[in-house]
Amino acid sequence: MWRTEIVDGTKLDVEEVAALYVASTLAERRPVGDRKRFTEMLRNANLVTAAYQEDLLIGISRSLTDWSYATYLCDLAVDRRFQRQGVGKDLLRATQEAAPTTKIILLSAPAATDYYPHVGFKQHNSAWVLDPIES
Ligand SMILES: CC(C)(COP(=O)(O)OP(=O)(O)OC[C@H]1O[C@@H](n2cnc3c(N)ncnc32)[C@H](O)[C@@H]1OP(=O)(O)O)[C@@H](O)C(=O)NCCC(=O)NCCS
Repeated sequence: MWRTEIVDGTKLDVEEVAALYVASTLAERRPVGDRKRFTEMLRNANLVTAAYQEDLLIGISRSLTDWSYATYLCDLAVDRRFQRQGVGKDLLRATQEAAPTTKIILLSAPAATDYYPHVGFKQHNSAWVLDPIES
């Protein structure tokens, strides 16, 4: 059985988290190979949850929150070997409980478009994205 906890993103081992992104397949859609940028993504997120099976990192959620109104869930990733066992749901629960008055907002990766409605999310027909000036 795994355990889920709120963690300090600045203290996580970037290589361990990068390995998890690869193991979950999310690395295909995030700049994990650019370690400087990936490190900033991890260090500057202010609500990070992690799931561990003993000492092995098997899942992570990475969010930006104002602790009051809105939480942007940037990434949710579970090691393929541990998917469909409730780990993702538990990471979402821990995120929601950490900032209970906030609305969780996210952009789904294609692999997860059927997942979010399954765990209670409603699709928003008025979400808008402005692409970065530089990438
Ligand atoms: C999407 C992801 C985080 C889900 O995590 P998970 O731990 O496998 O999901 P859970 O075990 O919490 O699943 C909860 C429920 O959703 C279902 N489910 C899981 N993945 C699903 C999917 N891709 N599509 C539809 N339903 C899914 C489970 O069967 C389970 O159903 P149940 O409650 O009826 O038993 C995980 O599959 C993952 O890391 N995927 C690759 C990375 C990715 O795309 N992340 C999303 C970025 S936005």
